[in-house]
Amino acid sequence: KFVLDLKVVAVERLNAKNVLLKLTQEAPLPDMNPGQFVEVRVDNTSETYLRRPISINFVDKLRNELWLLVATIGDGTRHIGAVKVGDTLNCVLPLGNGFSYPQSSTDKVLLIGGGVGVAPLLYFGEQCKARGNEVTFLLGGRTATDLLELDTFKQYGEVFVTTEDGSLGEKGYVTNHSILQKCEFNQISTCGPKPMMIAVAKYARAADVPCEASLENLMACGLGACLCCVEKTTEGNLCACTEGPVFDIKKLLW
Ligand code: FES
Repeated sequence: KFVLDLKVVAVERLNAKNVLLKLTQEAPLPDMNPGQFVEVRVDNTSETYLRRPISINFVDKLRNELWLLVATIGDGTRHIGAVKVGDTLNCVLPLGNGFSYPQSSTDKVLLIGGGVGVAPLLYFGEQCKARGNEVTFLLGGRTATDLLELDTFKQYGEVFVTTEDGSLGEKGYVTNHSILQKCEFNQISTCGPKPMMIAVAKYARAADVPCEASLENLMACGLGACLCCVEKTTEGNLCACTEGPVFDIKKLLW
């Protein structure tokens, strides 16, 4: 694990709630796996040691950049999302386990994300594509403006979209999308709201496709110390921050 002061090189407001931060440092960034996360310190608040877990959205090796997609939903994330180009963010990284890669380079991978849960799927999709896998993204949101980084996703695979109000793509939830009817995938990885991931897990079980889910359990310390992220599994209570956040759905009691 590293504790790094990373410099903000870009701040892109994607919609009213979500901000994409691009961070760098002079030395090469450490290796990070898709699905791992970063604990970012919240500065300029009374709670000096507060950190927020933010999943790794992308690592641009050429530019030596780490991308974090920040959903500004509370005071901590609002502070982080309000940084400016030239500021530094203190980051502990990389944390957690990350997604498993497909067993074969000919495997077809389906990556299903909802809301800001799409974030880690961008880096994972890029890495799967680099290994030769065919990547399909299925991304869902409430409305068209909830769907983030669509043009970037399209660089690494085919992108299908659902919105609850029908303003983009097929109307409904990701698990109702018509591409799931003709399942030709060898592996599914998912990240997003729990009800969505439970529905994806149900689909994967019925279709007999291996599936991993990245849990968005509440996290504080990120280090296995506070136990606020515990998930009940077939192997007992496991900390999502150290044993996850990615779990094989076979282990989950959903
Ligand atoms: Fe503290 Fe997981 S976040 S134990």
